[in-house]
Amino acid sequence: MKQRIQTDPWKIIEDGFHPEENRFYESVMSLGNGHMGMRGNFEEDYSGDSLSGTYLAGVYYPDKTRVGWWKNGYPEYFAKVLNAVNFLYTPMKLNGVAVDLAKEEFSNFTRVLNMQTGILTRSFVIIRPEGQIKFTIERFVSTNNREIAAIRFHVESLEGSHRLEWAPGLNQNVQNEDSNYEETFWEPMEAEIENSMGFVLATTKKTAFVVGAAMAINASGATPIGETANLQLATLQYEIQLDAGHPVVLDKIITVLTNRDHKTEDIKELAYQSADTAKKTGYDRLRAAHIQTWSAIWQESDIEITGDDAAQQGIRFNLFHLKQTYNGLDPRLNIGPKGFTGEKYGGSTYWDTEAFCIPVFLSTAKPEIARNLLIYRHRHLEKAVENATKLGVKGALYPMVTMNGEECHNEWEITFEEIHRNAAIAYAIYQYVLYTGDRDYLLSHGLDVLIEISRFWANRVNWSEAKQAYVLLGVTGPNEYDNNVNNNWYTNRMAKWTLQYTRETIEKYYYAQPQKIHDILDHHLVTKEELEQWQSVEEKLFEPQDKTLGIFLQQDGYLDKEQRMAADLDPAERPLNQNWSWDRILRSCFIKQADVLQGLFVLGELYSMETKKRNFDFYEPRTVHESSLSPCVHSILAAELGRLDKALEMFHRAARLDLDDYNNDTDDGLHITSMGGTWMNMVYGFGGLRIKENGLYLTPVLPKTWVGYSFVLRYRGSEVKIKRTQNELTIQLLEGKPLHLRVWEKDVYCDIDGVRIPIVS
Ligand code: BGC
Repeated sequence: MKQRIQTDPWKIIEDGFHPEENRFYESVMSLGNGHMGMRGNFEEDYSGDSLSGTYLAGVYYPDKTRVGWWKNGYPEYFAKVLNAVNFLYTPMKLNGVAVDLAKEEFSNFTRVLNMQTGILTRSFVIIRPEGQIKFTIERFVSTNNREIAAIRFHVESLEGSHRLEWAPGLNQNVQNEDSNYEETFWEPMEAEIENSMGFVLATTKKTAFVVGAAMAINASGATPIGETANLQLATLQYEIQLDAGHPVVLDKIITVLTNRDHKTEDIKELAYQSADTAKKTGYDRLRAAHIQTWSAIWQESDIEITGDDAAQQGIRFNLFHLKQTYNGLDPRLNIGPKGFTGEKYGGSTYWDTEAFCIPVFLSTAKPEIARNLLIYRHRHLEKAVENATKLGVKGALYPMVTMNGEECHNEWEITFEEIHRNAAIAYAIYQYVLYTGDRDYLLSHGLDVLIEISRFWANRVNWSEAKQAYVLLGVTGPNEYDNNVNNNWYTNRMAKWTLQYTRETIEKYYYAQPQKIHDILDHHLVTKEELEQWQSVEEKLFEPQDKTLGIFLQQDGYLDKEQRMAADLDPAERPLNQNWSWDRILRSCFIKQADVLQGLFVLGELYSMETKKRNFDFYEPRTVHESSLSPCVHSILAAELGRLDKALEMFHRAARLDLDDYNNDTDDGLHITSMGGTWMNMVYGFGGLRIKENGLYLTPVLPKTWVGYSFVLRYRGSEVKIKRTQNELTIQLLEGKPLHLRVWEKDVYCDIDGVRIPIVS
C-alpha cells in the first residue's frame, strides 16, 4: 500500500493542494474536543469539492427510515449526527474579488495538523496581478474550555498594497449530505450582531435541541464596514489595508452552547458572556491552556515507537483522534464511529465501544471514564428490554446503533440479527471489574445488565432435536459478509460465556450478600426455574466445529462455500463491497472482519495456542479486512503466535488505515472506534498485555525492524510505564502502589525504583 501522507512523528502534513483529495484531507485534519468538532474545511469560501461538517456531541436528528420493503420491527428512524452551525465561516475578498482557492492562482499551500498541540494551520500565497499575499490561518477547538474554539488569521502582503475584506460569521444554513429525504434538520430562531459580537440560535426539528453560538473579534487595525444578520447568518464585515512588511492579525473567538448543558433561556446570555471573556483572555492564552491540556493527555496515553516512523505517526494519529472524540466527562455521550469527522454511520454507539474502546480508556484514563461508558448502557436497559420485546423475545437486546437507547439502524440483517453486540457489553462489564476491582459496580449496576442479557440469550435459542442441543438461528456474526446464518460460532460462544459469567457472579455474591442478590433477582423477577433453564442453555448450546480441520466453524454450512483465498482475488475487485453485488459477497467465503478469530481473541485465555494457530491459519487467508475493526484483532493473534512479520503488516494496516486510505473511504470521515483497536493492537499485541483474575500479565515482543517502544498503563490505581528495547525491558512505576506483575510468566515486583529485565535471546 502506497503511503499517502509523508511521515512525521507528530504532524499530518499536506504539502501542496490537491483538490481531488480535498475530502480525504478534510477528514484526516479534523479537530474535536468531546463537545464539538469539525472537518478540516476552509474558513473562506471554497467552490470546489468539499464535505462541510461541524458536529456537536449528542445533538442528532431522527431521519425517517428509507427502506425498499418495510418489515415489522424496523426502527422508524436513523439517528443522524447533525451538521451544525458553521462557525468557521469567514468569507474574504482581496481588492474586491472573493478569495476562493478553487478559482484562484496560488502557491505554497500547506495544511498541517499538529497532533501534539491539537492545532491546525493552513497557509498559502495568493497570486494576484496586483501582487502576492500570504495567509496563515490557525485554529483549535479548546480542550481546556470545551465550548470554545478560536481561529487566527495572519495576513501579509508580500508585495504591493491591497484591500482585504474580512467577514467573520456564524452560518446556520447547513445541511447533511446523507439526509434521506433532502430535508434540512434545523429551524433557525435568531441571528444578531450586538456590540461587534455575533450570535445565532437554532433548534433541531423533531428533537428540539437548541444550539447557540456567539463570536467575538480581536482585529486591531481593521475598520468595521458593515454587518449582516438574517435568520440564517450573522456576519461582521471589516476592511483592512495590507501593506508589504506590515502583517495583520485577526482573531475570531467562538463559543457554542447547547440545551443539553444549559437552560434554553440562558443560552444567549451565557454564549455572549463566554465569548467576551474568552476574547479578553485572548487567543494566545487560550491557545497556551489548550496545548497544556493536550500535553497532559499525551502524558497519560502516548505510545512511542522507535525505528518505524510510519508506525509512530500512525499510532499517534489513532490516539489523537480517539482522545479528541471522547473524554468521558458526560455519561450521556458515547463514541461514534465517525466522531466529529463525517456524517456516515449516524448514531453514536455501536458494539465498537465495548469491544474496541473500553480497554483503552481502562488503561489510559481514570476508571470513572470507562464506568461512564458502562453506566450509559445501564441507563438504556429499559429501552433494550423494549427492543427485545418488539422482536418477541424476553430480556434485553441492546441496539446495534443508538443515540438514546432506541435502535436506529435500518438493515434487518443487522438490526434483528447481529445480536452478538449484547455479549460485548457483558464482556466489558467483566473487563471493568478485572481492571478496577470495583466489585460494588456489579451489585449496583452490572448484574442488572447481565441478567437481562442472559435472559435474552436463553429465550432467543431453540432446542434442536436433530442436534440434541440449543441452537441460535437466523443471526449475523461480526462478519457482515454473511447474513441470516445458523449457529455463528462467535455468537453462540459468547452467549454461553455470558450465561456462565452471570451464573458465577450470582453464585459468588450469594455467599457474601444473599439478601442483596435476592433483591436483585426479585427485582428482575428471576425464579429458580429460570436460573436452571439458563444453566441448561449454557451447558447445551451448540458450537459448530469441523473435527477434520480442527477448527470452529464460522457457522453451519460454512464449508459448503467455494473455498478461495483473499490473496487470489484480483486487486481491481477490492474492496469487494465497492465492486461485487451483495449476493455475490454473501455466497462467497470471504470474511469482512475477525469472526471466529474475534472469539479466540476475546476468550483467548480459554484456548490453547494450537487451537488458535489452526483457526488463524484457516480464517485469516479468507479475510479481506474490509472493516476497520479487522486488522487489529488479526495482528494481536499473530503476535501471540510469534508471527511478528504478519503482526507488523497488520499493525501498519490498523494504524494507517485512514492515513493511507486502505478501504478507500477516508473521504467520508475517519474510523474512530477502530482506533481503540489500534491501541489494543500495540498493547495487547506487541505488549502482550492480558488482565486475568489473578493480576496483570505481560509478554512483550518486538518486531525485528523496531528499535523499541513504550506505553503507559493503569491498573487498580497504579500507573506503570513499560519500555521494550532489543536488549531490555523496563517497567517504571509512575504513580500509585507497587505492583506485582507476571512478565513472560515470571513474577515481577515493580516499585518506585522500577525493574529492568535483560532480554536473553
Ligand atoms: C462493522 C461493524 C461495526 C460498524 C461500525 C461495520 O463496518 O462491520 O462491526 O460495528 O462498521 O464501526
